[in-house]
Amino acid sequence: MINDEWVAIGYLFSAALFIFGLKNLSHPRTAPRGNQLGAMGMLVAVLTTVLQMELGEGIVGWALIGGGLLLGGVIGWIMAVRVEMTGMPELVALFNGFGGAASALVALSESWKYIENESLELPTGLEIQVVVVAAGLSALVGWMTLTGSLLAMLKLKGGVEIFGKWIRVPTWGPEWLNPIKAILFLGTLVLIVLAIDDPTNTDYLYAIIGISCLLGILLVLPIGGADMPVVVSLLNSLSGIAAAFTGFIISNSVLIVAGSLVGASGLILTFIMCKAMNRQLKDVLFKSFGGSDKEQVTRTKVGSDADEVAMMIDGAQKIIIVPGYGMAVSQCQHQVKEFADLVSEKFDTEVKYAIHPVAGRMPGHMNVLLAEANVPYEQLIEMSEINPEMPEADIALVIGANDTCNPAARTGEGPLAGMPIIDADAARTVVIIKRSLSVGYAGVDNDLFFMDKTMMLFGDGKKMMNELNSAVKEL
Ligand code: TAP
Repeated sequence: MINDEWVAIGYLFSAALFIFGLKNLSHPRTAPRGNQLGAMGMLVAVLTTVLQMELGEGIVGWALIGGGLLLGGVIGWIMAVRVEMTGMPELVALFNGFGGAASALVALSESWKYIENESLELPTGLEIQVVVVAAGLSALVGWMTLTGSLLAMLKLKGGVEIFGKWIRVPTWGPEWLNPIKAILFLGTLVLIVLAIDDPTNTDYLYAIIGISCLLGILLVLPIGGADMPVVVSLLNSLSGIAAAFTGFIISNSVLIVAGSLVGASGLILTFIMCKAMNRQLKDVLFKSFGGSDKEQVTRTKVGSDADEVAMMIDGAQKIIIVPGYGMAVSQCQHQVKEFADLVSEKFDTEVKYAIHPVAGRMPGHMNVLLAEANVPYEQLIEMSEINPEMPEADIALVIGANDTCNPAARTGEGPLAGMPIIDADAARTVVIIKRSLSVGYAGVDNDLFFMDKTMMLFGDGKKMMNELNSAVKEL
């Protein structure tokens, strides 16, 4: 006999799947299983919610629910299958935004239901004022997450043009916007407090929605350059918090659990990112770190060729590979692994990989790519552990990394100021594979390219790694 106890068991089961999924996500080896467990948890949660609705008031709109599930599933599937590895951060930002908007919309419709129909009985223990406060908070966080995430998505593309050349999404914003953010945020809290005294007045809710949308844009606009990872993980956390508020309004325990898990894990990730960037969260949110424009590189450097680099590799006892975004763009992780196997077999060279926490465009980007190429996890060494080994390295082979090994970060000025870097410049020789001398994501010129001990291999990552591997084989 199906009854409410089955609903409770269903929610418990899906919450357990979310927790085990999250646990599995903490290691690249188990991450795919973590993803599957999380997706399964979501399916169980959706089915249980449908069952709960059927047991309660009964479902009239089966077609709507089925159609929504089908449409959402198909769109999600197509987007996930089609996305390039380099487009993942934008997709994550977009999903964060949709998550926030979905929560805020549910909260809005629920509060409408009770406001429009005063005779409707609220779930046990809830007062209309409580619903209004939760709806206000959900609107604040949810709409802010939507507009902030959409802007973050466009910024991650490096500032894109909308409506032809007329409006361009900037990669940064002026610092004077920051006090306005603080005022608007406090204003929204005041509106929520006012709504408590007048809970049936929907104008407050609409004003909160409008301000929150603006706040999302202002929150993300001044943040640029290397600090984008912090803002993306914060938006991820906010989408979870919005879901938890909404779960509270509709008395759905699994939404509260799932929202809290996303909120808490996103916040932990935000602090990890802040630590990696040597930033305080309040400084990222209320200061402008991005540079106004990308620096123009005027210096020149003569490039080397694969044969010259291969000759130098012959006899190297230790090579530290420093991968970056360019490796992701050129998808050369398999060639990199082939190189590591070649030199360790041929010259008995020790090879390690220096992993910067924000290398690439998403957390763990380098780990995922190198794991895909079957690079052993033991060879992937975190920045703080590899830096002391750098002076012993005969060669630091930098593949498409720029900001994460730019010594300008040590100067205390500019968008990279204070960010810890991989000390590639401490190795005896530096070999850099990239297409030109151009700046990295934060737009700062890199002195590493112009050091006497640096050899530049100009070209696409995959092409140059193939040439290097052929040259090493011929030695
Ligand atoms: P970046 O500073 O982004 O530089 C990547 C370099 O790769 C570019 O200078 C580019 O130079 C080169 N490149 C591009 N395509 C290439 C190709 N096909 N072949 C070879 N090289 C290519 O890289 P990074 O050191 O990994 O730093 C990451 C930056 O992104 C940091 O500022 C970080 O804060 C930011 N960010 C990170 C994240 C996360 S969570 N990881 C999220 C958002 C932003 P050429 O054009 O000369 O080839």
